[in-house]
Amino acid sequence: MALAIEDRAALDFVLSLRRHWAGTVYPRLRADFDAAAPSPVPVNDPESLAPLVHGLATYPWFSWLERGSQKMLWRAVSDAVVRQGALPPGPDGPATVEVDPDLVLPDWYTDWDIHVQPGGVWSHDLAGRVYELGARLVMLGENDDYAFHRLFVETALPKRSYRRMVDLGCGFGKSAWPLKQAYPEAEVIGVDLALPCVDLAARRASERKLAVRFRQADAVATGLEGGAPTSSPPPCSCMRCRSTCCRRYSRRRRACWPPAACCASWISSVPATACATWPWWNTAPVTTSPSCRP
Ligand SMILES: C[S@@+](CC[C@H](N)C(=O)[O-])C[C@H]1O[C@@H](n2cnc3c(N)ncnc32)[C@H](O)[C@@H]1O
Repeated sequence: MALAIEDRAALDFVLSLRRHWAGTVYPRLRADFDAAAPSPVPVNDPESLAPLVHGLATYPWFSWLERGSQKMLWRAVSDAVVRQGALPPGPDGPATVEVDPDLVLPDWYTDWDIHVQPGGVWSHDLAGRVYELGARLVMLGENDDYAFHRLFVETALPKRSYRRMVDLGCGFGKSAWPLKQAYPEAEVIGVDLALPCVDLAARRASERKLAVRFRQADAVATGLEGGAPTSSPPPCSCMRCRSTCCRRYSRRRRACWPPAACCASWISSVPATACATWPWWNTAPVTTSPSCRP
C-alpha cells in the first residue's frame, strides 16, 4: 500500500537520522573508546566500563540520538500504518494460522515493549504491520528485501534434509519464509506469542505462496506434537543479543549457528553475561534494551 506523502517524509527523515547515528556517530564513539580503553578491554565487566564510556565526549550524542531516533521511528511508523488502516483481505492460504484463544501472555512479555515498540508487538491489530515497517528502518533500509534473512538460511544451516523446522519467536515471519523456500520438503512452523504477528506472517507467507504453519504459542510450551524442533534460527535477535556468536554474525554478515543457550535465552531476556560481551549495550539504562536487561 502506498504511503501518504507526509508519512513518506517522516520516515525518510528518521531513516537519515538513523543512518547518521550508525554511520557517523557510532564509529566516532568507537574510535574514542578504543583510544581511551584499557587493553585488553574487560568485556565481561560492564560496571567497570560504564564510567569510561559515559565520560566519552561523544557518548551523550550517541545515546541521545539512539533513543531519540528510536522514539521518532515508532511514532512515524505508527502514524503511517494507522493512516493506511486495515489491509484488504489477503490470499486464502497456503499458509495457515493456529490461534490460541486461551493463551495468557506472560507478565514479562506485556510489561516490556518488545523492540521498544510502544504497546509491544501484541497489543492491537496493526501491531504486526507497525513492527514490519519499523524493522525496515531499524535495518537502515538495507534489508527491505530480507536478503539478510535469506543469507542466514543459506550460510548458517547445515545443508541436509529436514523434517521439521521451528522458528521460535517468528515475528511476522521473515525467517520462516526463506526456511521454507530453501527447504520446501520440511514442515516449517513459526511460533510467536503475538497474534498480530502470526496473522501477518501467514498473510505474507501466502502472498509468497509458501505453505508455512504459524502458531500463536509460547516458545517454552509450543504444544507442538511430535517433540523437539530440528532447528530454531533467531537472526534478528542476534542483532540485539550481542553474545559472542552474535557479534561474529553481525560483523561478518554471515551467520554462525548460535549455541543452544543463546537461542533459548534471547527470547525472554538475554542474560547479563551475554549482553556484557558487548561493551555499549549494558553500560547505561538509557541505551539498554529491555530485552537485554541485566
Ligand atoms: C526479534 S523479534 C522476531 C525475529 C524473527 N525471528 C525474525 O527473524 O524476524 C522477537 C519475537 O519474539 C517473540 N517472542 C518473544 N518471546 C517469546 C516467547 N516466549 N514465545 C514466543 N514468541 C516470543 C516476540 O513476540 C517477537 O515477535
